[in-house]
Amino acid sequence: MKILLLSHAFNSLSQRLHIELKRRGHQVSVEFDINDAVTQQAVELFQPDLIVAPFLKRAIPETIWRHHTCLIVHPGIKGDRGPSALDWAILRGEPEWGVTVLQANAEMDAGDIWATVNFPMRAVSKASLYRNEVTEAALQGVLLAVERMGQESFNPEPLDYSRPDVKGCLRPLMSQADRRIDWQQDSTETVLRKIRSADGFPGVRDEILGQEVMLYDAHPAAGLRGEPGSLLGRSGQAICRATLDGAVWIGHLRDKQGPHPFKLPAMRVLGDRVADLPELADGYSDIGYEERGRVGYLHFPFYNGAMSTEQCNRLREAYVQARGRDTRVIVLMGGPDFWSNGIHLNSIEAAESPADESWANINAINDLAREIITTETHLTVSALRGNAGAGGVFLARAADQVWARDGVVLNPHYKDMGNLYGSEYWTYLLPKRVGAERARRITQGRLPMGTDEACELGLLDDHFGQDSGHFLEQLRQRADALAEGGDFDQLLQRKVQARHADELEKPLEAYRQEELERMNLNFYGFDPSYHVARYNFVYKVPKSRTPVTIAEHRDLSRRSNPDWSKAS
Ligand code: COA
Repeated sequence: MKILLLSHAFNSLSQRLHIELKRRGHQVSVEFDINDAVTQQAVELFQPDLIVAPFLKRAIPETIWRHHTCLIVHPGIKGDRGPSALDWAILRGEPEWGVTVLQANAEMDAGDIWATVNFPMRAVSKASLYRNEVTEAALQGVLLAVERMGQESFNPEPLDYSRPDVKGCLRPLMSQADRRIDWQQDSTETVLRKIRSADGFPGVRDEILGQEVMLYDAHPAAGLRGEPGSLLGRSGQAICRATLDGAVWIGHLRDKQGPHPFKLPAMRVLGDRVADLPELADGYSDIGYEERGRVGYLHFPFYNGAMSTEQCNRLREAYVQARGRDTRVIVLMGGPDFWSNGIHLNSIEAAESPADESWANINAINDLAREIITTETHLTVSALRGNAGAGGVFLARAADQVWARDGVVLNPHYKDMGNLYGSEYWTYLLPKRVGAERARRITQGRLPMGTDEACELGLLDDHFGQDSGHFLEQLRQRADALAEGGDFDQLLQRKVQARHADELEKPLEAYRQEELERMNLNFYGFDPSYHVARYNFVYKVPKSRTPVTIAEHRDLSRRSNPDWSKAS
């Protein structure tokens, strides 16, 4: 079937649908919803059998939905309507939520229902729900709808609020007034729900020491209490604020009026005014270590998977400490939503010299990668529960084994960031695993990759577990098996020998120097593409066209192929 994905952006959900629909043999092309004329043109060029809209901020034009089946992926249960579906579900504390695939018509979210898939809610941020439960339910819903397209006997269900299984309703756009925190009255649970309902976007508007800021990245601060609303202390870059019955950690803020109006670590945004806050032990921790038997698990749930210079340095220290332990296997856990997305583009954008900070950050992540690659005492595993992008993928590849949860999306390329060459020893790690030709295709392709393809190519060693819980369970068994296996010494010896042989052939440092020469040009050279792309990314400048890498219908080399218009 020819399926056009019409989306506001090629976000994680659209990427997952792209991967899974293609894997099932459909011809899939993507168009960003820029304006009606451009969308119309895309439809005329591609002539799709079906249009799927995974993430839209506006209605589909009537000229399109009248003539084509257009299915909207709505992140709500049957009958739910409106632009703040997940926000309301979190704020209202719904125990169960869902995704509904419905047909576009004249009334927003009121079209006939093709599929609906429900899931139990988790007490996490909106972005985390979206990247996990919503994405899985949306995929199931879209696959069901695609299957039903081929069934003559199937009739989509008209929205009928008198039916007992239609439990949703129309809700308005959630306002800041709906989310406002009353620090004197709100419990920790309420504060967390309010912040989570708005995280990653738009955040909860609040005031801290007279400065208006948006709040993100909130966690309970166990055991802490104080005058409601007061700041109790800091932990690294996070601040702790008292609620009615406890306290919360707030890791990230955005000062819309400030010189850097994008998300940054809280202490960075508040600056000198909070310099005297006491450092609290056992606070907000973005790096954690646990040991089970002979396996050490190093966690680094950095917000949005972005790794600043300072975070890379701390993680390297934690890794070296883990390596000093009497264990056999180190598992690099990343975070629950992202394993890593590489260097911290927001911190770089906010630096006095973004070029210098880019340089410091790439060197810091390289130093971490080098420690992992040169580890001779342990077998190492990167365990991807969440997605990874750019340098994050190659950092993962620095370990001996890379295992991912089923459904994780990888973006193993840098070029979208203004033709960035990339480092993290990728020129050593990637061809070694996948061969030179595939390495070229992966990095030039600029396409998201699913776990099946990544395994076939050798970028991943294995994937398993349909959700985080199942993945963790199997991960522990496999890591134990590796540590306790009779062949452990042999495996370790083989890896050390292979590394020594590689070093003789071409020193690791030489790969690094060659990569950094190219990165130096990206950061300090005449071509400002990287700085422009980073600015656009951090400031979320909307895209003005869809790249031909995903808009197949706009790719002239493809269109000149006579077989192009036939569905695969
Ligand atoms: N630095 C800072 N923030 C980052 C980041 C990075 N390297 N990578 C992702 N983020 C942030 C995004 O700005 C977004 O922020 P939000 O919470 O305000 O919405 C959030 O993480 C999620 O990213 P998003 O792009 O919405 O997720 P996605 O799943 O749709 O796409 C990627 C994932 C990896 C393709 C995309 O985030 C990306 O291209 N990141 C940049 C990777 C990169 O070039 N790193 C530098 C070179 S190593």
